[in-house]
Amino acid sequence: MKISIVGSGHVGLVSGVCFAEKGHEVLCVDHDKDKLAKLKRSESPFFEPGMPELLAKHQASKRLHFSDRTEDAVDFGQAIFICVGTPSTERGKADMSFVEKVARTIAENLKDYRLVIEKSTVPIKTGERIKRTMGRYIKGDVNFDVASNPEFLREGSAIEDTLKPDRVVIGVDSAKAESLLREVYKGFDCPIVVTSVGSAELIKHASNSFLALKITYANWLARLCEASGADVDEVVNGMGLDHRIGKHFFGAGIGYGGSCFPKDVDALAHISEEIGVDAPMIRLISDTNKGQLERFYNMIERELWVLNDKTLAVWGLAFKPNTDDLREAPALRLIEKLKAAGARLRVHDPVAMPNTRKLHPDLYYANDPIDACNGADALIVATEWPQYKQADLAKVKATLRVPMIFDGRNCIDRKRVSELGMTLFGVGKEPVKPGE
Ligand SMILES: NC(=O)c1ccc[n+]([C@@H]2O[C@H](COP(=O)([O-])OP(=O)(O)OC[C@H]3O[C@@H](n4cnc5c(N)ncnc54)[C@H](O)[C@@H]3O)[C@@H](O)[C@H]2O)c1
Repeated sequence: MKISIVGSGHVGLVSGVCFAEKGHEVLCVDHDKDKLAKLKRSESPFFEPGMPELLAKHQASKRLHFSDRTEDAVDFGQAIFICVGTPSTERGKADMSFVEKVARTIAENLKDYRLVIEKSTVPIKTGERIKRTMGRYIKGDVNFDVASNPEFLREGSAIEDTLKPDRVVIGVDSAKAESLLREVYKGFDCPIVVTSVGSAELIKHASNSFLALKITYANWLARLCEASGADVDEVVNGMGLDHRIGKHFFGAGIGYGGSCFPKDVDALAHISEEIGVDAPMIRLISDTNKGQLERFYNMIERELWVLNDKTLAVWGLAFKPNTDDLREAPALRLIEKLKAAGARLRVHDPVAMPNTRKLHPDLYYANDPIDACNGADALIVATEWPQYKQADLAKVKATLRVPMIFDGRNCIDRKRVSELGMTLFGVGKEPVKPGE
């Protein structure tokens, strides 16, 4: 089947290469010419495991093509996926201008029947709006359908998630749309959940908000643990082994970030209020999450007393491991606060340093995690990369000026820290201190 993708970012490009991997012929469109130039050289514009290999494989197989014109997408694929960004605007409202522009351009160039599929995360009722807008801009008498096919991939394991999803949700309002989407997903071994367009839209926002709520619940428990002497990892482990609760996305730290959770939680609250349903619980997720980083920062400041002129090592910049995506990364907010307080920062991240350098050229970018610790008054862990969990803590101790760690992800080996006589502050846990 011929498939067009408009917006070749983390979702569009991953979908494109995965559809090609499943045997479809795919045209990926993006208006960013630099991105396209890289793609044509089989270079991934962002870090995602497996992406360079699939790009090369399917440019060679001639099942993957690129263009900077949405008009080409309209001519090429019978199914056209909209995968452009839907960032947050005021009070969390999703900015739908990118989606609207693509829908208009598709309509203006439509010559034959096409299925237009929202894969971008959009508020409920967007499908109706796309349909109405397209109806106004179409020239002549051409049929089309609008469907929703929300994306659940996680950056860092996006290709694996897309090729082997837990489920595929398709929101449709015609038999033809359902049959075309079933054709798209013919080679995927997973349940296909068929719903109305509105339900599919809501499934995505509701899923992300639920996961954010789960993380936030663990973070709130961490506060309770800090005040009572309990240990948050013990608590969430004891809870998470219950299958009704589950262990995934259930850990305390410095809060969630990334391009999805913060904006999707806010967008769900906004759309709820817009259609007359109060959303205090959803608003609280976002506020509690922001407070989590503040609490961590305050703990660092309390312990180090004066941050001005102190040298601090920071491990981890991306919003989570296995990505170089910095959107809403808690580490970046932390860095901004530490810099504003006058601290000198020696930072490290396995893949996100080039992107960070563009925003903060004045930091010291370390060659490796140990280099970051060199002469530092403390080490802060902001992203739980596996290499940080496995770091040689004896070397860390020997390299730091003061053997003190602030672990914002509860990923450092507490037993080893204790054996080495170091100090460790975590989230929702008693600190480890020498001699205790
Ligand atoms: N990143 C994720 O993990 C993830 C997961 C699930 C869903 N989503 C959702 O998918 C959507 C896209 O997210 P993303 O992370 O891929 O964003 P992204 O910023 O990585 O990619 C969006 C791409 O669209 C392109 N674009 C914008 N307007 C365009 C236009 N008019 N014509 C052609 N190209 C255009 C941009 O240049 C960019 O390359 C969002 O709604 C997001 O919430 C993201």
